[in-house]
This record gives sequence, structure tokens and C-alpha cells, in this order.
Amino acid sequence: MHVHDREASQLAFDVFRYATERMRLDPPPLDHPRSADELNAAVGVTITEQGLGGTEVLRLWEDVLSPACLSVDHPRFLAFVPAAPTEAATLFDLAVSASSVYPGSWLEGAGAVFAENQALRWICDLVGLGPDAGGVFVSGGTAANLSGLIAARHRFRERFPEHARTRMAVAAAASAHSSIAAAARVMDVDVVAVEPDERGRLTGPALRRALDAWDGGPVCAVVATAGATNSGLIDDLAGAAALCTERDLWFHVDGAYGGAGLCVERMRSHYAGIERADSFLVDPHKWLFAPFDCAALVYADPLAARRAHTQHAEYLDVLTDAGEWNPSDFAHHLSRRARGLPFWFSLAAHGTQAYGVAVDASIRLAEQAAEMIREHPTCELVLDPELSIVMFRRVGWTASDYQRWSDQVLRDGLTLTVPTSWLGETVLRWCFVNPRTTTDDLRLILDTLL
Ligand SMILES: Cc1ncc(COP(=O)(O)O)c(C=O)c1O
Repeated sequence: MHVHDREASQLAFDVFRYATERMRLDPPPLDHPRSADELNAAVGVTITEQGLGGTEVLRLWEDVLSPACLSVDHPRFLAFVPAAPTEAATLFDLAVSASSVYPGSWLEGAGAVFAENQALRWICDLVGLGPDAGGVFVSGGTAANLSGLIAARHRFRERFPEHARTRMAVAAAASAHSSIAAAARVMDVDVVAVEPDERGRLTGPALRRALDAWDGGPVCAVVATAGATNSGLIDDLAGAAALCTERDLWFHVDGAYGGAGLCVERMRSHYAGIERADSFLVDPHKWLFAPFDCAALVYADPLAARRAHTQHAEYLDVLTDAGEWNPSDFAHHLSRRARGLPFWFSLAAHGTQAYGVAVDASIRLAEQAAEMIREHPTCELVLDPELSIVMFRRVGWTASDYQRWSDQVLRDGLTLTVPTSWLGETVLRWCFVNPRTTTDDLRLILDTLL
């Protein structure tokens, strides 16, 4: 199994052929999920005592299993938050696995950590964080939100040791991503619900009202969203930041989806106040063209985060005592993959300007999509887009009409566009992150809504 023989050479060739062919499919097929029974019938049992041999297992993947996975990089995959990794990032993902790097500590992975940190520095600069800022790449926005909020609570307890056992709270609007409520459940903290404005945004005045009315445990953090998952709208970051400064509260900004817009110069004013974040996250696997999974979590004061997250044990002290930058210390994890490297490689290869242009393409497409919907005879825009998410209704349709249509257009291989709801009404939602999605793609979909 660990010996390189002729069979292994052939397999290396076949896997590389498959990987490069898949990357170059233009466009890739949208594909379709299949039931477990169908997959069982087509694949059978793969885990056997003697093994099936790499060639046969690769065939099963290529012919049956991979086509049963939707291609998130298809230009008409417009549901949830899609992905559109660059070829450079995907290729380097293969190289990262081949390199057998352990990037949890500087001792073991100095070169990888150095490179990841340069990519994180670029993100800190976009946010406007100071020279000491830094952080780590984790698996996704969910993990980043949890780790950021754990750091916030830890700092609060350092400052107020009398609250070592008090149940605490974080403040957030209902438009914050579901992972905030999930983090609160894991941490056993309350969520102070901030009343959103008419467009679903958290604002400074509403935050003040919510904090003033709160009579539970101390609030250790405020969560604002830079690009809400459902609407794409950016919260009133300046208002929230000002109140956090006034009340000395940790300001956590979730830019998992929308943080990418920071690299578009003309959009920067929409993010005013973000530079006062104590913690910030953006997922390169969403709109910064990295393959899954990759979320960047950065702190204005990483030492505070380190005190919250470092694990201590006899067998780890050699790492901790060395005083180096150990990525394991900045989130709730220990072993980790160098998941920032594919992003770093592509960013270093293409340059930051190309990222700004590619992100802007989706923002412009959202503006064009809004125009097309305004002119459409049977569709109506629900909200003016701010970033690259567009919500619209098909006049006269019920929830089941939307679901039937969505299932049908997926079966037809046309698009993955799924319904969501806005203020209790079922509507459609597009999220653009793929610079290869065009207005022709949108026209094809809109024609089925006539
Ligand atoms: C604003 C926001 N935060 C957090 C998340 C969770 O990210 P992940 O799916 O990478 O855990 C998402 C996912 O869409 C998101 O849009």
C-alpha cells in the first residue's frame, strides 16, 4: 500500500487525467442527485477485505458517484452560496495533499504557515486591521464564527473574572447566519435579538435599544454581518462599531459570503466601520475562488484569541513554549489541513487586482439581473441588490409552484435555483459568485418563468 509500483504509477496518471479533465469541462454538467438505493444498485459495496483496486474505484467515482454530485461551479448553480475555484487554486489543492504538510505549528509547517499568513495579511489589509492582526484558516464560516465568539467570551472573562461562571450573551439580528445561533447553543450563551430594519439589516440604533432592554447575563460580543446570506445586504457596520467602542464590546463581523466585496474599490464605502472589528471572517471557498473548505478568521488582537484557544498538554508544550506562530492556537481545533494554501497560491499567481475584477463581475451581474427582472412581465424584484444576491418573486405563485418549478429546472439540467422566504413570502433567490455566469444564462432561466 505504501510502495510505489507500476500499478501506483498508472493510478497517478489516471487520477491526474481525471482531475485535469474535470477542471476543464466548460461548462461542467450540472448533474443530479440520486437516491441511496440507485447508488447502491450502481456501485454496490466498495469496502471489501481484498480491495477493488484503484482503477476500478476511480471508475466508480468518475462514472457514477461524481455525476451524482451537483457541480457547484456550474454557471447556473445559483442557489445557496455557490463556488467557482480558479484552476490554479484547484491544482494547488492537489499539490497540498501531495506535500504531506502539517500546518498546525510553525515547527512542523513553517513554510506553509508563512504563505497562509501572507494571504491572511491581505485580508487584514482589506478590512483595515492594524499590523498586529492575524489569524488562521478554518473549515468554514460556521467554525470561524464559533472560534471568534469563544475568543470574545474569553476576553470578557479575563477582564471580569467575577463572571467566570456567569451565563453570557451575544447580540445579533435574525438576519445573521444560522451558524451564530448554532455557536450560541454550543457555547451555552443567550442571543440578544436585535430588531432588524425594514430591509433586514442590523443597525446601530436598534442594537442600542436591544442592549438597553436586555436584562439577562452580560453581553460579551456583538455580531454584524457583512453580506447577509439571504439578502446579500450589509449591516450598518459603522453604527454597530461605534456602539461597541462606546460600551467596550467585542465586535465580530461575519463576512463569510460578502466580505469578498471588500476587494472591489467602488464597494468599500459600504463596509465603513469594518476596520473596528475585533474578529472578522471571510470564506475564500465562497466568493474568493478557492476550493472547499477554506474560511479565513482574523483578529485585531490575535494574542487574545490565542489565550482562548491554545491547548495545553505535556506533549504540546514544546510547541507552545517556543513562542512561534502556531495556527492551531487561533481557533477551536488542533490538527488542521493547510487549507489556506490553494487560496494563497492562486492569489499569489494571479495578483490581487484579478480578484477585484472577478468579484466585481458578479456584483455587476446582480445589477443586470435586477434590471432584467424589472423588465420581466411576470417577475418582480423583492429588494435592490447591494452585493451579488438577487431576490425576486414570480407573481401569483404559491410555495408549491416554486418548488415544482425548481425541481423541474434541475431535472432539465438548466439551473439549481431554489426558493427561499422573505418576510414570510416564498420567493426565488440567486447568488452570483461565478464570473462565468452571463446574462444569457439568466435569460434562459427567466424564460421558464413566463
Ligand atoms: C454570512 C454567513 N456566515 C456563515 C456561513 C457559514 O459558512 P460555512 O457554510 O462555510 O460554514 C455562511 C454560509 O453561507 C454565511 O453566508
